[in-house]
Amino acid sequence: MEKKHYYAAIVGTGRIGFSLGFDKKREQPASHTMALLNNKRIKLIAAADSNEENLEKWRKYVRKHNGKNDFTLVFPTSQELYENVTCLDIITVAVNEDNHLEECIKAIEYKPRLVILEKPVALNSEEAEKIRAKAEECGVPVMVNHERRFAKDYLSVVSLIDKIGDIQSVTGELDSGLRIYGEEFEKDGTYSLLHDGTHLVDILQFLLKASLSNPLVSGVHKDEKGIVRNFSAHYQSVVSQFGTIPEVTFKMSGRSKFFEFRIEILGTLGKICVGNGFAELYLREESKLYTGFYSLTRQKIKLPKKTGYFSGMIQNAVDFLDGNSELVSPLEDAISDLKVLEEIKAKF
Ligand SMILES: NC(=O)c1ccc[n+]([C@@H]2O[C@H](COP(=O)([O-])OP(=O)(O)OC[C@H]3O[C@@H](n4cnc5c(N)ncnc54)[C@H](O)[C@@H]3O)[C@@H](O)[C@H]2O)c1
Repeated sequence: MEKKHYYAAIVGTGRIGFSLGFDKKREQPASHTMALLNNKRIKLIAAADSNEENLEKWRKYVRKHNGKNDFTLVFPTSQELYENVTCLDIITVAVNEDNHLEECIKAIEYKPRLVILEKPVALNSEEAEKIRAKAEECGVPVMVNHERRFAKDYLSVVSLIDKIGDIQSVTGELDSGLRIYGEEFEKDGTYSLLHDGTHLVDILQFLLKASLSNPLVSGVHKDEKGIVRNFSAHYQSVVSQFGTIPEVTFKMSGRSKFFEFRIEILGTLGKICVGNGFAELYLREESKLYTGFYSLTRQKIKLPKKTGYFSGMIQNAVDFLDGNSELVSPLEDAISDLKVLEEIKAKF
């Protein structure tokens, strides 16, 4: 049933929960708090965080934002939040990875109308399946914040694809300075295969409407401590919404002194490159360099000024609760992303 307002609370008022909303370089809103406060159909009424300092900063900001109409409540644990606030429609879980299982299950047991869970679903697919089982038992839908699914620049790929002919290959690349994988980091998820790799696998599977499985993993480079710093995973004959793609490659570096997140789609007539902060289309044109040849030339494309990645995610939550839309980033898709990462990890 459509309501005038949906009441929301947030568990975890750290970076993605709150403080990234102050990053001047990021497109805003860039945190759950700011995105929830910006949506007129949502009333953000409470938060819980075990970190007193984070919670106090959150309380001050939200109180100032709401002015005289402020009734927000804060709690040191989600349990106290749930015992004291009984009208929640939406619970956002934005705690660290190692607490996703426990906090997401508690949120589901509250039986709100929707749980918004930060990525990755959990530390591994075994934990993620426990979340799925609890969500099914309690009949609570869960959406996962794989925010590129809502970003207009990434979505532009779908409308450009017919310009580049038949797809020959797709490459997703993620470069950062964070280690890719070491068994000792499984306990808290502080490795980039899980932390960032989940975004890359998710957007590839989402845009292509494909299931990646059975990878050939090559180029594995381990440092002197045995920690994986580079790899490539290749998938052959991938069935996608754009036909069968001969090769999809997923490459990561964990020893780069820069951060890069990009997808390149090579067609028979051109190429699309999309990544954080850019979307480019190249098409074949008569070459300026060689008589009788064709080269790829960058085309002018119009993109919206704002991608709407975070506000779009929250709007999807409202549209879903109104009964007007499916969840764009449902739990089961995010669990399948984890399984793709685990298949790769098994081959290191
Ligand atoms: N979607 C994205 O692009 C994106 C970006 C950054 C982080 N994340 C994800 O968001 C999650 C949080 O990351 P972060 O960078 O905001 O971390 P953070 O450490 O800045 O914030 C986490 C907050 O949760 C609180 N917390 C942890 N366990 C708790 C518990 N059981 N009860 C109450 N509070 C608890 C901590 O005190 C902290 O304030 C991680 O899963 C991370 O992968 C996603």
